[in-house]
Order: sequence, then structure tokens, then C-alpha cells
Amino acid sequence: MSEKVYLYPVWIRLWHWFNAVLCLLLIITGVSMQYSDPAYPMIRFDWSVSIHDVAGILLAVNYIGFIFGNLFTSNGRHYIFRKGILKNLFVQARYYAYGIFKKEEPPFPISKESKFNPLQKMSYIIIMHVAVPIVAITGIMIFFPERMVFDVFGNKALHLTDIIHVIMGFVISLFLVVHIYFCTIGLTPLSNFKSMFNGYHEKH
Ligand code: HEM
Repeated sequence: MSEKVYLYPVWIRLWHWFNAVLCLLLIITGVSMQYSDPAYPMIRFDWSVSIHDVAGILLAVNYIGFIFGNLFTSNGRHYIFRKGILKNLFVQARYYAYGIFKKEEPPFPISKESKFNPLQKMSYIIIMHVAVPIVAITGIMIFFPERMVFDVFGNKALHLTDIIHVIMGFVISLFLVVHIYFCTIGLTPLSNFKSMFNGYHEKH
């Protein structure tokens, strides 16, 4: 018999799927602008620019919603490192590398009080509190290049800002692949995806 725990309130689900679609649009148009031959673009260059600009602005607004949601609801408590995080990260990594194949019990069972295991917690904190803000701030800076006031080695900081933006975009793309893979480790391969639609996490 499986047990259901309500972990994902409506606002988190709405934020999450809006964020996911926008990130996918940003990654696809970003890759198209960065790598494809201008003569034979993956997506027409001017379309990529417009979609990237609109999706980027919507993502930044949606991100503000995430921050306020976490500040004013109890969801924010899941985004704080607790004592012993380093040891807990090791215990969770050992479980994924070994214990899970030996059918051991998960070392940090999911509950209403603690809905992320230590590795999830670390990756969500880094992505949501470091990578997404950096990509959004550098994106806004590139959007207004004429406003850039500071110089790096005698040049406008545009190049450096652009490099940081692309690296962070790459980090978020890598996160996405790992994130989706780890989401398949649930009661069934699809149960975690269902929980992000109906709000209920299913466990043994
Ligand atoms: C197609 C893309 C995506 C899919 C299918 C997906 C799937 C999921 C699923 C199933 C969960 C619930 C299970 C869990 O907590 O691990 C989840 C949670 C989460 N995802 Fe994603 N995700 C996607 C994109 C993203 C992106 C692009 C980000 C961030 C840039 C992201 C950040 C998060 C966060 C922070 C949570 C926890 C939310 C909370 O409960 O507070 N996801 N995702």
C-alpha cells in the first residue's frame, strides 16, 4: 500500500511548470543564437532573439514570485541548509551509488517537514539562489548594453557579462538533465512527475 503526502501547493506547481517551459524556450533559443550558422539557423535569428527576450523577462518576474512565495509560506523552510549538511550529502550520495541497488531504505525519507533529500536540497538551493539570479541579472544587463557603466580591462563589461550569462545557462541546462533523471527515482518512474501536477507525493 502506498501513502500520499501533500507536498506541492498550487502556487509552487504553477511557478514550477511556468519556469520549466520558459527555461526550455530559453535554452533552445539560446543554443540556436549561440551555435547555429547564421545562414542556416536552427530557428530564425530574429525569432530566437524575440522569444529569448520575452521568455527571459517572464522568467525573472516568475522568479520574484518564487522568492515571495518562499518568504511568505512555509515552503521556504525547505530551502535552508541545516546542521550536518556535509555528512548528510555524503550519506545520500552513498545511497544513490550503492544502497539503492541493495534495496536499502532511503536515509532521508520524504515527509511534510523535510520534502527534499540533502542532494536535492543542495541542488535546488544552488540553482534557485545562485544560478537563476545570476542568469537573470546578466540577461537584464545584456538587454541594456548602452547602460553598462563599468569597464573591464578598458572594455565595456559586455563580453564578460555575456560569458557569465552563457556559462550559467549551461549550468542550468546540465541541472535540468540531472533533475529530470533523478525525478524518475520514485515509487514508479512517473510518480514524481505526477506529484508535480496533483501536489501529492506517493511513497511506500
Ligand atoms: C521539463 C522540465 C522539468 C521537469 C519535467 C521537472 C520535474 C520536476 C518534478 C517531478 C519535481 C518534483 C519532485 C522533486 O521535488 O524532485 C520538481 C521539483 C522542482 N523543480 Fe523541476 N522540472 C523541470 C524543470 C525545472 C527547472 C528548469 C528548474 C529550475 C531552474 C526546476 C526546479 C525545481 C525545483 C526548485 C523543485 C522543487 C520545488 C519545491 O517543491 O519547492 N525544475 N521538478
